[in-house]
Amino acid sequence: MKIAILGGTGDLGKGLALRLAKMNEVIIGSREKEKAEKIAEEYKKEAEKYDLNLKFIGLTNQEAVESSDKIIISVPHEVLPQFLITLKNYEGKLFISPIVPMTKTKFGFSYEPFRIGDKEVSAAELIRSTLQGARVVSAFHTVPAMKLSDLNAKLNYDVLVAAEDRATFADAAEIISSIEGLNPLYAGKLYVSKYLESLTPLLLNIALNNGLHAPSLKIV
Ligand SMILES: NC(=O)c1ccc[n+]([C@@H]2O[C@H](COP(=O)([O-])OP(=O)(O)OC[C@H]3O[C@@H](n4cnc5c(N)ncnc54)[C@H](OP(=O)(O)O)[C@@H]3O)[C@@H](O)[C@H]2O)c1
Repeated sequence: MKIAILGGTGDLGKGLALRLAKMNEVIIGSREKEKAEKIAEEYKKEAEKYDLNLKFIGLTNQEAVESSDKIIISVPHEVLPQFLITLKNYEGKLFISPIVPMTKTKFGFSYEPFRIGDKEVSAAELIRSTLQGARVVSAFHTVPAMKLSDLNAKLNYDVLVAAEDRATFADAAEIISSIEGLNPLYAGKLYVSKYLESLTPLLLNIALNNGLHAPSLKIV
């Protein structure tokens, strides 16, 4: 599969790119093409440290959208509304959102959904509302970037997925399953994304209060 990662130069982008590139063609998207090309070369060198010969292509975010039908949006939540309105030619494409809108207060981490008018919405619902005609999936929120980036780390996580229908879930599940040790589970339609996104601040609070590191999920 050809998979584009918008904001693929960041922490989660790096981890997903390194893991996905074992089985897929991975495009690194950035606001700046030169940065994307430089980071794509760095990821190749990083993979070589693990004796892996992986290839990455660096493009602008818009070029990345146009060159793939399967796209992960991996930008900070603060910039999401402004970022989305810069995108074009996305109709019919699959967009996966790992985005967690949260803030850190003196009490711990707190989920801070977006708003459309009076209504609170999840990041995935904001994407669906802005990128009309795109197919939107919510996933990967509880997979720590640092574990993905450490190719010596053996993963054994469930990835909870929200998608409007089973066919859309299946398309996203194929991408998730192409990373060894990640198991996609269908959590429900896109409205459940707010529950999935809010698991991350919950896990981080549990980690903070119990001295845990890089927490994730396995349903038993
Ligand atoms: N880190 C994790 O462990 C983790 C786990 C699960 C989910 N997430 C979610 O994944 C998303 C990405 O997290 P991250 O830690 O990878 O973020 P990050 O490293 O802070 O940023 C990712 C990329 O976003 C791009 N970016 C920054 N400002 C931007 C702007 N104003 N407009 C467009 N692009 C901009 C940058 O790429 P360029 O400068 O190259 O354009 C940057 O490399 C977040 O929404 C987060 O909630 C993260």
